Amino acid sequence: MKLAKLLTLALVAPSLAFADDAEKAKLMEAGKASFMTCAACHGMDGQGVAAGPKKMAPSLTGSKIATGDPATFALVVLHGIAKENQDYLGMMAPLGAALDDDKLAAVMTYVRNSFNNSASVVTPADAKKYREQFKAQTGPVTRAKLEELGKAK
Ligand code: HEC
Repeated sequence: MKLAKLLTLALVAPSLAFADDAEKAKLMEAGKASFMTCAACHGMDGQGVAAGPKKMAPSLTGSKIATGDPATFALVVLHGIAKENQDYLGMMAPLGAALDDDKLAAVMTYVRNSFNNSASVVTPADAKKYREQFKAQTGPVTRAKLEELGKAK
């Protein structure tokens, strides 16, 4: 009996890990395609497109927002960032309408695991949850609010 249980575990455990890897691979592939939406400003290499002495947008490598609490990252992508300075020529646009839950999950997973980043996968169910969580947000989010959210964690 015990042996049978052990055998079952031994057979099931690797297949579970495999399912996770397969889901991540699928999200990464779809995310790479969806990242086209971001690349105009952040660049295909995620480093920010150069525009004269400035950049269109910041590098996503090591970004605390991109690799930290996925809820905050989702908020930024869904609603954008209020333009409060001229550091970058672009503006972090609200992209909630352009990305459905599958695409949001995929592009977040892609950014969190590309450009030398390594962070957890975001599933379509997570994406749906974050969209619901921030549906009352009107207009782009201020940096102050993002800081506050970061501290709450
Ligand atoms: C039209 C240009 C543009 C597009 C398109 C765009 N971004 Fe941005 N993004 C910006 C700019 C500009 C900032 C900096 C905003 C600020 O600080 O005022 C920014 C900031 C960010 C940040 C915060 C970085 C940090 O650590 O401060 C993340 C994360 C991010 N963008 C992800 C994305 C993702 C993912 C996409 C695509 C789904 C995307 N952006 C599309 C211009 C853009």
